[in-house]
Amino acid sequence: MTIVLVSLILGAFAILYYYLTHNYKYWQKRGIPCADGILPGIGHMLPAITLRTTFPEFLSKMYNDNKNCSMVGFYSFTKPSLVVIEPQLVKTVLQANFSSFNRNVFQVDPDLDPLFALNPFNLIGEKWQAARKRLTYAFSSMRLKILLESVKTVCVVFENYLDNKLKETRKIEVELKDLCSKFTAQVVAGAGFGVDGYCFNEEKKDLSFQKVGTAILQPNLRTKIVMMLTFIAPSLNKILRVKAIPKHIDNFFRTLVAELIEQRRKDGKPRNDFLHLMTELEKQEGTKFDLEVLTAHAMSFFIDGYETSSTVMSLVLYQLAVHQEIQKKLREEVMSVFEKYNGEITYEGLKEMTYMDQVLCESQRIIPTVGFQSKMCTEEFELKGSDGLVCRVQPTTEIQIPVDGLHRDPKYWNNPEIFDPDRFSPENKQSIDRFAFLPFGEGPRICPGMRMALLQIKAGLAVLLRKYSLELSPKTKLPLKMIPGAILASPEGGLWVKIQQL
Ligand code: HEM
Repeated sequence: MTIVLVSLILGAFAILYYYLTHNYKYWQKRGIPCADGILPGIGHMLPAITLRTTFPEFLSKMYNDNKNCSMVGFYSFTKPSLVVIEPQLVKTVLQANFSSFNRNVFQVDPDLDPLFALNPFNLIGEKWQAARKRLTYAFSSMRLKILLESVKTVCVVFENYLDNKLKETRKIEVELKDLCSKFTAQVVAGAGFGVDGYCFNEEKKDLSFQKVGTAILQPNLRTKIVMMLTFIAPSLNKILRVKAIPKHIDNFFRTLVAELIEQRRKDGKPRNDFLHLMTELEKQEGTKFDLEVLTAHAMSFFIDGYETSSTVMSLVLYQLAVHQEIQKKLREEVMSVFEKYNGEITYEGLKEMTYMDQVLCESQRIIPTVGFQSKMCTEEFELKGSDGLVCRVQPTTEIQIPVDGLHRDPKYWNNPEIFDPDRFSPENKQSIDRFAFLPFGEGPRICPGMRMALLQIKAGLAVLLRKYSLELSPKTKLPLKMIPGAILASPEGGLWVKIQQL
């Protein structure tokens, strides 16, 4: 009896072990090098699921350990995934053979998150094209000038806020992510919806757009779980059914957009915001947009634009606080452009701030806000590396683009650990490999909000630098360490600086 029981248990373990490991020869059989450290059932995911490391760092390690290969395989639990290491292969996946890799891995269940599922990031085919077309329409040069009018109003509120804080004291200590989130959430409220976001109003902070953003994206247990389930283990979410967007936030956007659109369709008054542009486009296309779709576009404007932009802006300001000589040089540019345009923020003036562009690029190179991109193979395709490796990639295989690793590889960047905006000077930038620098992605899915993001960040930086200087506070924990499980780069303990009037 005991022998039978023991044999049954051993048999069950053997079957389980086989089930959990049978796929682990997948890369070996195809002649593709495989990363070290496989565990049954978990594959290579232990550091990522135990939150010992961020997902971009996890991919960077694989990138650095296998730098001499054009690609390397690993197992996301039991599923084979491929990291492309050579920029030429990144180009193949993101651009040249987009039709074979045209979807993102991120999986949102339309029944759980109906609005978020309509975000272009989560769409494919015709729906993706239509949603992207509308965002792209809103961010053409002509319309960006319209949106800039709202950004300018926010700049005045931002400046008044800092002036008030610095009225009675010479220096203030602030956490940059918090400060920049106020700015970008106020921009989204104004340029997106034409309403006051109450982000600089202490009395109304519970009603603020910043609070809405925090509820969706701030790194906490809920967002870490959402990140795991949507990026790393989407099949598990078929059972757990965790929403990416909390119910009250979904309701907030539905109510807000329904009220504003009704008002706009009735009064037809021109306004300087995204919703107005959508009603204009409606007229041009001669069809009334479905309210659900319109709300989803408005939510895209908020979710995709607010947290990414505030993260980039805060990291740039951190670099300026650390590199005083670069701060000084940038301020000189800002001052001379303001002088040329009578102290006004203008579209042309922001365009002329080219050293600011260099600083922005370098800051995004050294700490990319989005440190990896994941694409899914949609059609069998043969990837050929320059080292002779050939991989016939099968549909549903996940392809990881190790943005962090590429941005810090000495093969593409001299002294990559040094913050040097001159890498992006007009003379030097010609020699940059486009596919080794991916702050906004590349190819047909490149970030459609890039120009809007840069416009608002540049305006915010210009306003800050013309009147105030920044220095690093000892409260910032150095070296910076990113919070594992956060969706975007989020330094532990925050980025603390001291700000004072010039
Ligand atoms: C500095 C701020 C921003 C950064 C760093 C950023 C970065 C990115 C990246 C890396 C991607 C993925 C590209 C790819 O898959 O190849 C992306 C996609 C996207 N971004 Fe941004 N983004 C920013 C701001 C914005 C803004 C302001 C908006 C809109 C208001 C926006 C809307 C989107 C959308 C809709 C997608 C999905 C595009 C698609 O899949 O077709 N982003 N962004």
